[in-house]
Amino acid sequence: MVQSLTVRDAIIQRRSIKLFNGQPVDREMLLSILDDAVWAPNHQLRQPWRFIVACGKELEDLYTVLKEFAIPKWNELSEEDLEKQMKKFTTPGGYVFVVVPEDARQKERLEDYAAASMLVQNIQLLAWDHGIGSCWKTPGYLDNPLFRKTLGIQPGERIISMLQVGYFDEMPKPRDRKGVEDLVTIFEKKE
Ligand SMILES: Cc1cc2nc3c(=O)[nH]c(=O)nc-3n(C[C@H](O)[C@H](O)[C@H](O)COP(=O)(O)O)c2cc1C
Repeated sequence: MVQSLTVRDAIIQRRSIKLFNGQPVDREMLLSILDDAVWAPNHQLRQPWRFIVACGKELEDLYTVLKEFAIPKWNELSEEDLEKQMKKFTTPGGYVFVVVPEDARQKERLEDYAAASMLVQNIQLLAWDHGIGSCWKTPGYLDNPLFRKTLGIQPGERIISMLQVGYFDEMPKPRDRKGVEDLVTIFEKKE
């Protein structure tokens, strides 16, 4: 693979993409991104993650699930309105649900969530390097027992991210971030 972005450029230029253009995402490419992303740091090499991927023919089935959980009173809407509301789900080229074990020990659970968050950032940056945008989404229904069941989530596991991935036509404008001058306190030993 030819590297096109420096790490710094990828980090700074990546934006969350919320409007996709419907272009399909190649399954092999998505799987190879995940294969690279798992090099995220993680304590004791617990590798606290697995993925549920929809990309291609299985998307239609996923839409029927998302419709039920994400669109209130979907069955009372006209076909046209339903199609409009479903656009934000039908235009990404793929989905990656990132599933993380919920360790009973608090320290390990926090470490695992931290590690999996780095993994998600890796996915987003690697995708960006391929011209693929993404958005980490955390709608409430990810924790809905029926939704979990439909996706085959086991007790003791949690979906931490519904990552939508896909191509896009418009680059969102970045919003200002606080700079280090507002964030850094130089260490001073307190008596
Ligand atoms: C843990 C986490 C949860 C997020 N959940 C949502 C979400 O539910 N819906 C959404 O539109 N964006 C979500 N985002 C994306 C943020 O809105 C986005 O990262 C933020 O606006 C900054 O934009 P940028 O990623 O382009 O820098 C989430 C991001 C993170 C890290």
